[in-house]
Amino acid sequence: MNVLVIHGPNMHLLGRRNPEIYGTATLARLDLDIKKHAAGLGMKIRAFQSNSEGGIIDLLTANAGWAEALVINPAAYTHYSYAIRDAIEALGLPAVEVHLSDISKREPFRRISVIKPVCRAQFKGQGPLSYFKALDFCSELK
Ligand code: DQA
Repeated sequence: MNVLVIHGPNMHLLGRRNPEIYGTATLARLDLDIKKHAAGLGMKIRAFQSNSEGGIIDLLTANAGWAEALVINPAAYTHYSYAIRDAIEALGLPAVEVHLSDISKREPFRRISVIKPVCRAQFKGQGPLSYFKALDFCSELK
């Protein structure tokens, strides 16, 4: 199974960004661990990070022909990007939303996800494990 993994804005700062919330692992480390976990499930991964809304939509569009599932951490766009929501819906890929932190227990603006309604599942608050659980979920789609 081919799985597209997308990390949204500021995820390139992992490791030095609010480590008390997001941990100390870098994005490179996270991507390595995602690929390792995926290999155990017999999956192929394409992983990207983008700081812009249009960049994320372009990545979704460019990889939609290859991908059989999407694992996305839309980061702050989670809370207000109808454009990303619409792109996921339009492309029709089974999508899973992930967050390192538990957005339901943070500031009120983070408790809303406009992406969730177009996703099959949401995994949050478990650090890198949120991504691994999303991959496990994807592996059961087929
Ligand atoms: C995040 C949570 C978002 O609220 C925040 O804007 C992020 C990261 C998470 O993984 O916990 O950038 O998506």
